[in-house]
Amino acid sequence: MSSYVTKKTPGDTSWFTKDRFGMFIHFGLYSMPARHEWVKSIERITEDKYDLYFKYFNPDMYDPKEWARQAKAAGMKYVVLTTKHHEGFCLFDSKYTDYKSTNTPYGKDIVREYVEAFRAEGLHIGFYYSLIDWHHPDFTIDQYHPRREVPTAEEISSKRDMKKYAQYMRDQVTELLTNYGKIDILWFDYSYEKDERIAKPWMSGKGKDDWEAEKLIATVRSLQPDIIIDNRTGIDQDIITPEQFQPTHWPKDKKTGELEIWETCQTFSGSWGYFRDEMTWKSPKMLIDMLINTVCIGGNLIMNVGPTARGYLDYRAEEALKVYADWMKYNSRSIYDCTMAEPEFTAPRGCRLTQSNDGKRLYVHLMEYPFRFLEMPGFVDKVEYAQFLHDSSELILTKTESAGEDALVIKLPPVKPKVEVPVIELFLKQK
Ligand code: GLC
Repeated sequence: MSSYVTKKTPGDTSWFTKDRFGMFIHFGLYSMPARHEWVKSIERITEDKYDLYFKYFNPDMYDPKEWARQAKAAGMKYVVLTTKHHEGFCLFDSKYTDYKSTNTPYGKDIVREYVEAFRAEGLHIGFYYSLIDWHHPDFTIDQYHPRREVPTAEEISSKRDMKKYAQYMRDQVTELLTNYGKIDILWFDYSYEKDERIAKPWMSGKGKDDWEAEKLIATVRSLQPDIIIDNRTGIDQDIITPEQFQPTHWPKDKKTGELEIWETCQTFSGSWGYFRDEMTWKSPKMLIDMLINTVCIGGNLIMNVGPTARGYLDYRAEEALKVYADWMKYNSRSIYDCTMAEPEFTAPRGCRLTQSNDGKRLYVHLMEYPFRFLEMPGFVDKVEYAQFLHDSSELILTKTESAGEDALVIKLPPVKPKVEVPVIELFLKQK
């Protein structure tokens, strides 16, 4: 058994730390301008102009069954969709707003179709719900709001009432957790401090008091007690969510020192929403490395796709998913139900280790393929049998004395197998 004990959480994270790998989906009106999901804020777009997207939103090729098929093939076990992003547009048929997909030319409840399709493929279902809302009339103007530079911004904002907005969120979350069956994750996004460099004196950041986060969380728990909630309301719940960087150690609770349950969220390119002209797409090697680098320190990875406004995944996203599909088809055993290797095992140079939760199998990921021999000090007499994971071909074990220390030696073929990152599976001797 793994000796790592994680922090107790209010929700049920038992499935989550086994699944390890999920799909994030950012889909909304911002898929139409196709130049970042923050476009309304970045370009300070007025309501009138942004309304054009609402008027013409029609993802005629939306086929969540196809998304679900690709997610499953990529080895992803859970999924989180933006039911509402910062722009405020709802992909579900809410009775608390007109600003929703059912009132666009598309005319249907996108969330409902999504839930049905992914559930049918056996994935755990998550909802992202933005705490920020640049459409709601009671959401006060702050440093990120599209109207922050309007001369009358202060006056407009002073008439807004965040209490009403907080109630609106509770109402919508109630709908989301009542009308779509069991939901496994609720991903709130996000709290932020006042930024002195850009905020005017009357503007402030927003955090748990603005969202009335305690009440919001209580509402969620009363409807779906086991659900996993992230930390971005400003109150820690089940998971912490490092974004767009790769932690190098298993994160710990700053106060208690306990190990966190964590999920890092990442993009294939530099944007979450579909961004036509964004060119910084990650290489296949980087994609596989990110997954291994996460699980080898006890975390989950959620990779994002930003579907086009017609509702399909563009070729670059499909290719990236295919990278995972090709690798996971043969190597998922080193990911699912695996975690950081026990402290007695130190990764050899150029390698990353994971270990099965039952402690019986150890996985050596060859991030840099070694030439002929892999030397592993500290592994002597601990391994019963070794094979490549992708084809179960035996790898011959010997022993050497290097620098006065006995090391286990694994003989490898001189040419790297045709696998992005080959994995060695070690069956450990049972004590
Ligand atoms: C950030 C961004 C947002 C994205 C999210 C995903 O907070 O504001 O656009 O949805 O990260 O983690």
